[in-house]
Amino acid sequence: MKKTLDDVELKGKNVLIRADFNVPLKDGEITDDNRIKAAIKTISYVLAKGGKVILLSHLGRVKSQEDKETYTLAPVAKRLSELMDKEVLFSDKTRGEDLEEAVNSLPDGEILLIQNTRYEDLDGSKESKNDPELGKYWALLGDVFVNDAFGTAHRSHASNVGISEHLPTVSGFLMKKEIEFIGNAVDEPKTPFVAILGGAKVSDKISVIENLLSKADKVLIGGGMANTFLKAAGHSIGTSLIEEDNIKIAEDLLEQAEGRLILPVDVVVAKEFSNDTEFKTVDVDNIPDDMMALDIGEKTIKLYEDALNGAKTVVWNGPMGVFEMSNFAKGTSGVCQAIADLDEAITIIGGGDSASAAQQLGFEDKFSHISTGGGASLEYLEGKELPGLKAIDNVEED
Ligand code: 3PG
Repeated sequence: MKKTLDDVELKGKNVLIRADFNVPLKDGEITDDNRIKAAIKTISYVLAKGGKVILLSHLGRVKSQEDKETYTLAPVAKRLSELMDKEVLFSDKTRGEDLEEAVNSLPDGEILLIQNTRYEDLDGSKESKNDPELGKYWALLGDVFVNDAFGTAHRSHASNVGISEHLPTVSGFLMKKEIEFIGNAVDEPKTPFVAILGGAKVSDKISVIENLLSKADKVLIGGGMANTFLKAAGHSIGTSLIEEDNIKIAEDLLEQAEGRLILPVDVVVAKEFSNDTEFKTVDVDNIPDDMMALDIGEKTIKLYEDALNGAKTVVWNGPMGVFEMSNFAKGTSGVCQAIADLDEAITIIGGGDSASAAQQLGFEDKFSHISTGGGASLEYLEGKELPGLKAIDNVEED
């Protein structure tokens, strides 16, 4: 078991909190602030306990001076301040006297956000390669380290793993919640356990499918990756995108699953990858040679609704079709609705595209948990050890 905020003294301490504020931006504006909202519980708790909050996060990938301008955390400081209705001080430096002065003069109960940790990548990828001096330097700014960056837990970087090596390290509330929901679902699921996997590529999901097949009663497949499975199952799939290299793996997974891996029975097809083109629904045996599958069809939605009926644990990762285009969003919204209608199930959405789809389609309050981690939740579902999580101190057993 990992230590949490209740296991450390916070009063009067410099509390370094690693959050994941890697939010999408358009023209300098934050287009989705869920990750910022998700960090507030931990920040407020530390403030209420009389600690000083010093926040660290990465944003984007910083490879050039231009990237530094694009990926400044200044808009995040502003948004956090609005959401908390409280001043958030911002240090534009990731090291040096100005930063140290800002930390040393921070009063109890106040918040300081440090500039994007990946600014340190410009000079030899120090953050992303977990440079030992950098982790040690940041650790010197604090008395205790709270890792709340579940979205970054699959990375071994200076600002999550490096700092942990020099300070007492506990998990924040978001990290704890993510681990409880995803961990329990995968390790001790209430059954029947149904997993739904979609998205573009089989290659991204092979290990997840393998791991979930060893635990789930059924694994339902959709999205672009269903094409490779349909081909492996002997169907003609027209001009649909597939991964030739993974057909054999798809065949093996189908065999290994012994009927628990369920494929679409009908799909929505079009001649072009566009919302302004004609489309129709066909059975998977009748995909025209000059058309591509862009969504699952209505019979499949019904089939998946029936498969979900009575489920007690549901994990969903990856859209069922090109949900960004309205003509090919019905599969994803249908599956969203079917999961939302389950009364007694623990329902979990992996981050990334499926979380955006659920939010975009208006289902965000209908699930037990929507993960803030895309890559991290996927690696957790694969059964991999996450370095950021591993680096949090364990509760000593008696
Ligand atoms: C994410 O958005 O998945 C995390 O913040 C990690 O970002 P990264 O892929 O740039 O390391």
